[in-house]
Amino acid sequence: MKGLSILGSTGSIGTNVLRVVDAFPGRFEVVGLAAGGNVGVLAEQVARHRPRIVSVADAGGLERLSRLVDLSGLRAVVGREGMVEVATHPDSRMVVASAVGAVGLVPTYRALEAGKDVALANKETLVMAGELMLARARERGVLILPIDSEHCALHECLDGRRPQDVCRLVLTASGGPFRDLPRESFARVTREEALAHPTWRMGPKITIDSATLMNKGLEVIEAHWLFGMPAAKIDVLVHPQSVVHSMVELVDGTVLAQLGVTDMRMPIQYALTYPETWEAAIPGLDFSRAMRLDFAPPDRAKFPCLSLAYRALERGGTAPAALNAANEEAVAAFLGGRAPFPAIPETIETVLDTEPTAGAPALEDVLEADRRARERAREALARRAPAPAAG
Ligand SMILES: NC(=O)c1ccc[n+]([C@@H]2O[C@H](COP(=O)([O-])OP(=O)(O)OC[C@H]3O[C@@H](n4cnc5c(N)ncnc54)[C@H](OP(=O)(O)O)[C@@H]3O)[C@@H](O)[C@H]2O)c1
Repeated sequence: MKGLSILGSTGSIGTNVLRVVDAFPGRFEVVGLAAGGNVGVLAEQVARHRPRIVSVADAGGLERLSRLVDLSGLRAVVGREGMVEVATHPDSRMVVASAVGAVGLVPTYRALEAGKDVALANKETLVMAGELMLARARERGVLILPIDSEHCALHECLDGRRPQDVCRLVLTASGGPFRDLPRESFARVTREEALAHPTWRMGPKITIDSATLMNKGLEVIEAHWLFGMPAAKIDVLVHPQSVVHSMVELVDGTVLAQLGVTDMRMPIQYALTYPETWEAAIPGLDFSRAMRLDFAPPDRAKFPCLSLAYRALERGGTAPAALNAANEEAVAAFLGGRAPFPAIPETIETVLDTEPTAGAPALEDVLEADRRARERAREALARRAPAPAAG
């Protein structure tokens, strides 16, 4: 039985991780669950899996949880320190990092320090501190296995390949809901329109990131750290069908692609069972039906977030952490109706341009850059005119 601690167990990825766990009875043990404030879902998970440790964002959440489910015999903790305890519990062999955003950084980092393999969905943490996380994983001889479907595809295509044989990584992008919308209409798009992703059902933050293409920008940075490739050798292609999850081009011109259904249980199962391949609990691609595979370069003028992410990666230091923080703040403002859609790239650019250039940062430098960038982002958002009323 492989002991698992799941950070962000109540989210879109977290609940799918538990579906994979349920599909293989007796193979995994849920040791720890960490969530934010959705105590209703967490209570059901606690009742079903009886973990040894559970954590929520704050004391109020714990109080509500204790009214919904029997917590006797398990350790119940709160806040960032609580999440760190879940991530470093001695009985868990693998930590699934599936919280959203910067909140996952310290717990995931501590999990690597504690010698846990990490199945990583929470890409923001690698964007913020990729070099540090890779260094800890190397030191402790543990794995960081991607749950992002694109990186799972690259991992699978690269498995066993020599680095010198690979000339390019190609990340595919659905293009999001505004792929064909003229840029002039962006100022009027609503939260609901932006949340209507054409091919994937995901949490709200990543869905907005997909609409701005920042998700792909974050993934370029994630791929850089996971696979040791320079930015110049990581490309993005818009592929509206989301069937090809990503591709690897070899120096002899061969292109390897991984294809699959749009169901996150596939990459989750890959990460949880690597290096083995277990029979899938879900149906695969149906080739008996006609299928088109279209590819086109992304429109970088229309979706400036992609170029901003490349710029942050090239600048290095704390620039990617600042990019991520500004994006999180701007997306939250858009989702809260406090900023229009174009404010997202504008805020990020303002923050990135004022981020000092620094060398290899320590964890404290990254956290400080995150704090500073959020402050600057909030100021920039406050200076903007309020979002137009929807409709
Ligand atoms: N969804 C996908 O298909 C997909 C695909 C690839 C990568 N990812 C990545 O996976 C991560 C999670 O995405 P998601 O779509 O699953 O997001 P989501 O549905 O919004 O779930 C986010 C999770 O993070 C938890 N969380 C939020 N704030 C927290 C806090 N302060 N303390 C502890 N936990 C907190 C939430 O808990 P509560 O709900 O209890 O507040 C929830 O469990 C993101 O980094 C995303 O980019 C997602």
